[in-house]
Amino acid sequence: MSLRPIIIVPDPVLKQIAQPIENITAEVKKQAEDMLDTMYEAPGIGLAANQVGCLNRIFVMDTAYRKNEEKTRKPIVMINPEIVWRSEEISVMEEGCLSIPQQYAEVERPKSVRVKYVDLSGEIKEHIGEDLESHCIQHELDHLNGVLFIDYLSRLKRNMILRKVEKMKKDGIIL
Ligand code: NI
Repeated sequence: MSLRPIIIVPDPVLKQIAQPIENITAEVKKQAEDMLDTMYEAPGIGLAANQVGCLNRIFVMDTAYRKNEEKTRKPIVMINPEIVWRSEEISVMEEGCLSIPQQYAEVERPKSVRVKYVDLSGEIKEHIGEDLESHCIQHELDHLNGVLFIDYLSRLKRNMILRKVEKMKKDGIIL
C-alpha cells in the first residue's frame, strides 16, 4: 500500500485544469492504485488527481465504502471522464472534500448523471450515478477542471471555510 499526501486548499494545483490521459501507462496504473489507497485511508468516497498533485484526468471513487468492509469494496477508477447526460431533477446534499478538511456545505446538483470514461484496461465505459454517487462523480470531475465545492457557495461562506482551514493548519490540527 502506498499513500500520497493529500493537497489542502488554497494550493494552486487545486485550481488547475487536468489534462487528458493518452496512454494508460504503468505509471498511470500505479497512480490509480495509490489514489485508491489514499482515499480509503483518509477515509473518503472520492479522490481526484489534482488532490495528489497530478494534473491528469483521473479520479477514483467508492460511495459504498462507509457501509462496507474491505472485502466488499467497489472501487471505480475513471480516466478522461465526461458527463454525457444530466437529469433535470436536482438534488441537494451536504458535501465535503479531503482537500478542505472537516468543512461541509449543501450543494445543489443534477440528481442523476451518465458519465462516459475509460477504465484502467483502456475500455470505454458508461456509468449512471444517482444521488450520492451523482454528487460524487460531479464533485470529482469538477476537481479535474479546477473547481471545488466551495466555489458554489457565497463568497462570504467560502471565505469563512478557507479561514477555518487556515486556522486548523496554523494550530497544527492538519498538515
Ligand atoms: Ni473533493
